[in-house]
Amino acid sequence: MCGIVGYIGHREAYPIIIKGLKRLEYRGYDSAGIMLFDGQELKVSKTKGKVTDLEEKSSREMTINGTIGIGHTRWATHGVPNDVNSHPHVSNSGNLVIIHNGIIENYAPLKEELIKRGYVFHSDTDSEVLINLIEDVQKKENLKLGKAVQIALNQVVGAYAICVFDKQKPDEIVVARLGSPLAIGVGEDEYFIASDASPFIEYTSNAIYLEDEEMAVVRLHKPLKIRKIKDDTLVDPYIQELKMNLEQIEKGGYDHFMLKEIYEQPSVIKDTYRGRLHANLGLIQMAGIEDNLEKFLNANRILIVACGTSWHAGLVAEYIFEEFTRIPVEVEYASEFRYRNPVINKGDVVIAISQSGETADTLAAIKLAKERGAFVFGVCNVVGSSISRETHAGAYTHAGPEIGVASTKAFTTQITVLTMIALRLAKAKGTLTNSDFHRYLQELEIIPEKVAEALQTNDKAKEIAEIFKTAPNCLYLGRGYNFPVALEGALKLKEISYIHAEGYPAAEMKHGPIALIDEHMPVIVIAPKQGHYDKVVSNIQEIKSRSGIIIAVVTKGDTQVRELADYVIEIPETSDALSPLLTTIPLQLLSYHIAVMRECNVDQPRNLAKSVTVE
Ligand code: F6R
Repeated sequence: MCGIVGYIGHREAYPIIIKGLKRLEYRGYDSAGIMLFDGQELKVSKTKGKVTDLEEKSSREMTINGTIGIGHTRWATHGVPNDVNSHPHVSNSGNLVIIHNGIIENYAPLKEELIKRGYVFHSDTDSEVLINLIEDVQKKENLKLGKAVQIALNQVVGAYAICVFDKQKPDEIVVARLGSPLAIGVGEDEYFIASDASPFIEYTSNAIYLEDEEMAVVRLHKPLKIRKIKDDTLVDPYIQELKMNLEQIEKGGYDHFMLKEIYEQPSVIKDTYRGRLHANLGLIQMAGIEDNLEKFLNANRILIVACGTSWHAGLVAEYIFEEFTRIPVEVEYASEFRYRNPVINKGDVVIAISQSGETADTLAAIKLAKERGAFVFGVCNVVGSSISRETHAGAYTHAGPEIGVASTKAFTTQITVLTMIALRLAKAKGTLTNSDFHRYLQELEIIPEKVAEALQTNDKAKEIAEIFKTAPNCLYLGRGYNFPVALEGALKLKEISYIHAEGYPAAEMKHGPIALIDEHMPVIVIAPKQGHYDKVVSNIQEIKSRSGIIIAVVTKGDTQVRELADYVIEIPETSDALSPLLTTIPLQLLSYHIAVMRECNVDQPRNLAKSVTVE
């Protein structure tokens, strides 16, 4: 999704903005642009392509230096990715400049009205409509920029995070948000504006996160004033101290963020359960759960809403919750849930899972569930994100920033949090025997070491990747807890290597996908010793007898599948319910190596965005 960076202060704005845009690259984008003002002249440089393309172009075009500026990475929604549609957009008078993340849904009638009033448009974007609407309001009523922005925003329908600059008032940037994130870094005599804190973390650890429907005039040498866009009421700015450090958002010696994040899993899973899981005391303590224990215990049903990889974590959780707690669970794509008039009863508990905490569909599903009286619990990674604020309570995954567009550590830490919740509820409900409860606690505590061991499959994964890097298709099969892992394995492969891949419950294969099997079809079968091992072995035999190529993920020491499979990857043993935390590791590595070998952009796959803040 689009990324926003702005600066106003005493330093040169250009390097801060360019570096900031690079930090936001993980969000996914197709073009980039920058505006600088040097006190007299305003210059805009923008291009389709990467921030490095912008650097190259702007080194020729940006003939000025300035201590105020705004920059943008665009992920196309209205209008194809090209130079003209890139942001910033300048108003007809040449005075106002905007960068915008989001969608203005009623841009067409607004544009029509503005055209009637003599405005001319150069791009196909809704953002150019917005900046001219602001200009029109400003001119008509001779208003200050902040007021004009406020009035204009009250006329638009949609989602936005915006920065607006007025050449005639060059000591301020007006910012606003509805549905798209926006953070303001507060330094000494300087302010930073960004979609998240990563562009300014090295300058200040004080940040204000704008809430939906809030705007601010960020003015030099003036305290920040935040107000509600709708009714103009003033809001006390809440300055948050950030805990993130620069090292966490840099590659730390790895070739790609994705690989770094895959390797971080042993330590971040520990971070996820630190202070919450006390195996020696037989305790799980999570504040968000303790404070709302009754709601969970009285729930007739748990509904899980999420998208993509987070939805896969939700599917794993469905198996775990039902097994451990006997509470019925339904898992829904947030995008379907929000538009299908779902039945939500008062006693329902909704769990929303999201790494970024900004996914528009998940956010909308939460709002709907709340409107209908459900208690909504969030499982998010990004602290202070929209979803973490919109939910009644929640638990953070503490995975640290996930920069690679393909989720890896988010998945395993989400499963860790959800497993702990299920265990805590099972303990309270008495639905697990004491010995099983203690056994799971102990197993979960040593999972990080086993994940570290599973990471030693890297060479094997690389070897297999070399053989299958040109395969046009791939099938992933798993059963029970590992069916969602098959879905996740297939998603990882297709999103970063562009190989068509499908995940299926292994037994479902005979109802259709088996027709695809021939000697060219690699089939990745997740076959750990625990669980439905014998059934999976039968499924492998079915594939084998149709000449399919089997790549099996098995428990260390396995002999039966080894005899049938063409390639095996061994992982350590754990109980069935916890096995997704291990089986997923070689699948992540396999996708990673195949994508690298195919020379794909691993961290920023085409057409994808890290946080999908539009529906
Ligand atoms: C896949 C991936 C996406 C996200 C999905 C939801 O690797 O990253 O499928 O899982 O866009 O994002 P969050 O978890 O931020 O709500």
